[in-house]
Amino acid sequence: MEVVPLATADDVAALAADTIEALVRQRPGAVLGLATGSTPLPTYEELVRRHRSGTGPSYDEVRCFTLDEYVGLPPGHPESYRATIARELTDPLGIAPERVHGPDPSPDGLPTAGARYEEELAAAGGVDLQVLGIGSDGHLAFNEPGSSLGSLTRIKTLTEETRRDNARFFGSVDEVPRHVLTQGLGTILRARHLLLLATGAGKAAALAAAVEGPLTAQCPASVLQLHPHVTVLADDAAAAGLA
Ligand code: F6R
Repeated sequence: MEVVPLATADDVAALAADTIEALVRQRPGAVLGLATGSTPLPTYEELVRRHRSGTGPSYDEVRCFTLDEYVGLPPGHPESYRATIARELTDPLGIAPERVHGPDPSPDGLPTAGARYEEELAAAGGVDLQVLGIGSDGHLAFNEPGSSLGSLTRIKTLTEETRRDNARFFGSVDEVPRHVLTQGLGTILRARHLLLLATGAGKAAALAAAVEGPLTAQCPASVLQLHPHVTVLADDAAAAGLA
């Protein structure tokens, strides 16, 4: 695992954008794995800024897979991860909607949604570069503490801590869905390169546990220790707990 300490969240965004652009230049049909949440937003803004200024690569052939999705939101809800990633990244980069995949939260298909998403990922040849954030409790995607280290895409119940963390995107915590579809830790480990972004003091304890603590389901992000190609970009505040 390579841990790159950087001064600020802007530095994290710039280096993450460099990494994504370098892959797409080298492999125009790259498969990108995309996290949502606050942490990657400055990276996505930077990619869009460069694209609009004409310095970015073409994203026409890229395919994207989101990490997770809320269950129970009305279709098209602005806080659904499908809508969020389209608004913040893939639409501005000109990536056609049919090239952007996410777990399908429609009620009728829920029992098979996980298996179908795994099939889509496999049919695309797997993820080349997976962008990740980390939860304050060490969760990865929506694999909360206690998740199986070998898990695949499935329905999970959010903890109250994560619902409170995510209430800022909704009117109140009561509006945050209780269930999600999420790639499993085993799914994430199949991506060829994992790029974990961590910014802010609220992530310091979780990042230290993930990088330097024991491999344990109590800190799902510690599963990164099993992967041969992980890059962690952390600002000063998030890296504060590292030795
Ligand atoms: C989002 C996701 C989550 C977030 C995590 C951190 O797709 O998978 O694991 O990465 O909750 O969220 P932020 O970045 O908002 O602190």
